[in-house]
Amino acid sequence: MSKTLAVLASGRGSNFQAILREIEAGKLDAEIRLLLSDRAEAPALEMAREHGIDARALPYDRQDRSLFEQAAAQAIEESGCQWIVLAGFMRILTPEFIERFPGRILNIHPSLLPAFKGLKPQQQALDAGVKFSGCTVHLVIPDLDAGPILEQAVVPVYDADDEESLSARILEQEHRLYAEAIRNLPDS
Ligand code: GAR
Repeated sequence: MSKTLAVLASGRGSNFQAILREIEAGKLDAEIRLLLSDRAEAPALEMAREHGIDARALPYDRQDRSLFEQAAAQAIEESGCQWIVLAGFMRILTPEFIERFPGRILNIHPSLLPAFKGLKPQQQALDAGVKFSGCTVHLVIPDLDAGPILEQAVVPVYDADDEESLSARILEQEHRLYAEAIRNLPDS
C-alpha cells in the first residue's frame, strides 16, 4: 500500500522535489496528498501545484502559533495522510501539534545529529573544525532536532569548504536519504 504524505515546507523545496521525483520515477511507493507552507511565496507551493498536489499557504503568526497549527492539523487529518514530512520547514512546532501525530512526523536536518542542532548547522560544523558532517532523518519529538534517528549520511568536510560548498555537498545526500527513509517506514 502506498504511503500517504503531507509535506510542510518553508522555502526552496528541493527535498520535496527530490521525494516527488522518486515517486514519479516509480522508485518510491508513496503519494504526496498535501503541501503546506507558512510562506505564501515559497517556491515549493508552485512546484506542488504544477504536479496536481493540493498546496496551501497558511498564515503564520509568531505570537500565536496555534492559528497555523490548527489549520495545518485539520488539513492533514482531512487528507487522511499517515505521515507528515518536514522538508525545510523552518518553524518550531509546539508540543501540542507534535503530540497530535505521535511518531508520525519526520524531519531532515543538515548535520549528524545530535551534533549541531538548530540554525546554520553547516556553519556550526565548519566552526567546530570537524572532518565529517552529513544529514539526519529523524522522528520529531517536542525537543528541537531530537527524536529517534531513522537514517544518516556522512559527507567529508574539506579545508577549502565554506558554508555554501558544504551545504551543497550535504544537500545532495539529503535528496537521496529522505526518499530512503520514507521507503523504510512501516506501512501502517
Ligand atoms: C535543507 O538543507 C534542510 O535540511 C534544512 O533546510 C534546507 C531546506 O532545503 N532544514 C533545516 O535546517 C531544518 N532545521 P529545501 O527547501 O531545498 O528542501
